Amino acid sequence: MKILFLGDVVSRSGRIAVKRRLADLKQEVGANFTVINGENAAHGKGITSSIYNELMEAGADVITLGNHSFSKHEILGKLNECPYLVRPANMDPEEPGNCVVIRECQGKRIAVVNILGGVFMNNALGESYPVGERLLNSIDADIILVDFHGEATGEKELFWYLYRDRITAMVGTHTHVQTADERIAHGSAYISDVGMCGSFDSILGRDVDEMIARTHGKATRYTPAETPAILCGVVIEIDDATNRAIRITRIQERP
Ligand SMILES: [Fe+2]
Ligand SMILES: [Fe+2]
Repeated sequence: MKILFLGDVVSRSGRIAVKRRLADLKQEVGANFTVINGENAAHGKGITSSIYNELMEAGADVITLGNHSFSKHEILGKLNECPYLVRPANMDPEEPGNCVVIRECQGKRIAVVNILGGVFMNNALGESYPVGERLLNSIDADIILVDFHGEATGEKELFWYLYRDRITAMVGTHTHVQTADERIAHGSAYISDVGMCGSFDSILGRDVDEMIARTHGKATRYTPAETPAILCGVVIEIDDATNRAIRITRIQERP
């Protein structure tokens, strides 16, 4: 079993790259199951129901979110039409949406979990560890994949060391910059951040000129960059006999 995970899709250029590339990429890497982080898919912040459908039609099986989950309010009224959308378990507001999605693939139950880091994250509800513990205790699945959406690598590593015996893979998202620290231990795959699918000539997906203007005190709107996107993610290979990870491979395709 191979799971493809693509990092934060940022705005139109990120969506174009995913839609253009995903079908072929899945074939090339032999992915059986695909998870995409879509927290920035709608104009850099949040996701809409139509963009959810776009990414699902492009080939996603599950879409995870992050601190920007509900930045576009439209999605709150459409959550029942987006069954494979996962929002962070420890995020304010707590109620709407799924914190875990379980889907069957090749006779395996794959649980996808989304958790928010606590560092520099103003809508996180407390530490990720007790929430993780509670969540993992409640999940009945063959394979558990955690999207840990956070800023700090140390916090991500700590979560993985705490729970790696119980999860098949933990991938970091949110920083939009891919780290080169992927590894396997105890049958669990890890990377601090998979990176983004968003405009390469940008600042984390945002327009460079606007960000520079901001440093001079100019009031700015949130303007995503429109240049062609880098596409970042990982492929996690899982042993069908044990449901444990045996390989993690980074993907980084620059325009
Ligand atoms: Fe993001
Ligand atoms: Fe984020």
